[in-house]
Order: sequence, then C-alpha cells, then structure tokens
Amino acid sequence: MRDIVRVELGSRSYDIVVGPGVLAEAGRLIAGVVGKRRRLIVVTDQTVAKQHLTALQHALDREGLADGGPAVILPPGERTKDFDHLEQLLDALLGRGLERSTVLVALGGGVVGDLVGFAAAVALRGVDFIQIPTTLLAQVDSSVGGKTGINSRHGKNLIGAFHQPRLVLADTQVVNTLPRRDVVSGYAEVVKYGLIGDPAFFEWLERHGTAVVAGDQDARRHAVRVSCRAKAAIVGADEREAGVRALLNLGHTFGHALEAACEFNDTLSHGEAIAIGMVLAFDLSAMLGLAPAADALRVRRHLFEIGLPTGPGDVPGLPWCPEHLLAHMTRDKKVNDGQISFVLARGIGQAFLATDVDTADILKVLES
Ligand code: GLY
Repeated sequence: MRDIVRVELGSRSYDIVVGPGVLAEAGRLIAGVVGKRRRLIVVTDQTVAKQHLTALQHALDREGLADGGPAVILPPGERTKDFDHLEQLLDALLGRGLERSTVLVALGGGVVGDLVGFAAAVALRGVDFIQIPTTLLAQVDSSVGGKTGINSRHGKNLIGAFHQPRLVLADTQVVNTLPRRDVVSGYAEVVKYGLIGDPAFFEWLERHGTAVVAGDQDARRHAVRVSCRAKAAIVGADEREAGVRALLNLGHTFGHALEAACEFNDTLSHGEAIAIGMVLAFDLSAMLGLAPAADALRVRRHLFEIGLPTGPGDVPGLPWCPEHLLAHMTRDKKVNDGQISFVLARGIGQAFLATDVDTADILKVLES
C-alpha cells in the first residue's frame, strides 16, 4: 500500500510517497518525475550506506537510470552538517562532473537531507534533488518543506536556503533498522502535528502510538501520511515561515535551549528535547490560563507512555538551570526585536503563535 501526499507550491509542487517497500520502487518513482536520462548522484552516510545503499542502487539499475558514478558517502552524525563537509561534498560532486541537469539523491536522516539539500541549492546555482529519508524524524519533518542548511559555531541551522526537493520517498519499513531511541525521538515530531491542529489525530495516537513505534506498518503509514499531510498544508500556505509555518516550532523554543545546554551532544536527542519542550509549552499555556490543565496532563502522559522524557529530570546528565535555559532562548533564531516567539496552545490541536510571553512566566514554568 502506498499513500501520496502532494505539497502544493505551484511549479515547485512535489509528491511525498509513503509506505512500506517504497525504497525498492525508487527507480520507477524517480524516473516518473525526472525521466530516465538525467544523471543521478546518490549521497548518503556510512551507517545508511551499509543498510540501504545496495537496495537503492538495485532499484535505480532495474529502471536503467543514468548512473552518476559511485555514491558519495559521508561520515554519520550531526558534526557532518558543517562548512568543511559542505565543501568536501561540493568538491566530490563537481569532481564527478556535476551538471545543471544532474539530480542529487539524499539517502539518510536529517543531517544528510539538510546538507545535500543545501549543496543542491548552491551547486551551479541550484540543481534538483530528491529526498529518501530513512529516519522517522526525517520522514515526518525535515525531508518535507525545503528547509536545507548546515550548522555554524553560532548555532544550529543558521546557514541555509529554502530549496524544495522534486520528490520525497518515505519507506516506513526502513525505519525498522533504527535503534528504538531514534524511532521514539522521531515520534515526538509526529505528536506535534496532533498538538498543533489535529485533536482527532492526537486521540488516534493515544490509541495507536505504541504500534507506530513498534513498527506496525499500517499504523506507521497512517501516522507518517497524516503528519506529512499536515506539514504539506502548512508549507503550501507559508513556504518561507512568514506566519503559520512557525507553528511547526511547537516545543522548539524550550527544546533548542535544552539541546544547546547539552551542547547538542548525545545526552538529549532532538526529538527528546522537543518532547520536553512540548510538555513545557502546554504547562506554560495551562499556567497562563490559556489551555485546560487536563490537556497539558494528557500531553505529558502520552509522551511518557511512549517512552519519551517529559521533563529535564527524566534525562540523566542534563544540565538544568532555568536562568541558563532562558539565556539560550534569547539567543535562538526565533527571537525577533528581542521578543522570544513561543508556540502556545488553547488546548490540544489549538496551537497559536505568541510573541508577548513574559520571561518571568517562562522562568516560573522552568522552575516548576
Ligand atoms: N521543521 C520545521 C519546518 O520545517 O518549518
């Protein structure tokens, strides 16, 4: 079974194909979008290459797609998303004779997708690329919507470009090869869509979230499809984050501060940080009398049941100082004219953007 979600962006519209076994059909699906004659260069990382590169190459060969030479294989991990690796990647691509008609294929998680997307945006002033996300987090978030980029010593994702892929292939079975912690972390971003604007989806997740994480393919396909549909609608309405797209930052203001406090190391994954951030955003909303306390409790309970941390105390080794976290928040790129922008909620599925949150209230919720 396959689901297709369309991202409507005029001449830059594209499909997200979701389902188990999509990787094996990558050749046919890619040929359907870019044809068979354009050279493809696959870029992946060492971990993903071991698990999925052969399957992808077979799928491309079966359709007789033009071979752009051996895949470029990067080191795994967040550290790869930097200037040095961008330069190495661009060198490797140009060394392989990259042309305007060449299509890059990003096979991997968020790091590979963001870096390859950015390389595609700047190489020869822009070439086409295709996303084949292999983590749950990348399937429901980073591979969709055209945000590409690298980190700088000043912070995460501070250098980048909006560059939409031509196609996204989300194979829900591929996620089974990930460690459980990675699947659970990606799940936090799935929950986010329910909390932003879809209370019925959140209710569905309360009943089926365990199956989504355990690898039940029907449940996972449904969760990825609904998440991608929600993201596609938001991106279609506000590609460059002038308004509604900022709702996708639910939990991210607190979450990024927590990640920064951990110096973006393994103590806390992005999804775990977002889970805590969403709990704090709902706690803050309840504390301000905006959302029912019962909804904040439901959010906390569901994330806990799935195995996500719901507070800093759940993460051994997390440096926890409210004042420091607040300082990180004021340095975040979501700060405008000195105001921290927060996504708050009037209840589950009713998120909204607030720019007038008092820092005293932020501190109070952090301290509680
Ligand atoms: N990950 C948030 C966004 O794509 O806007």
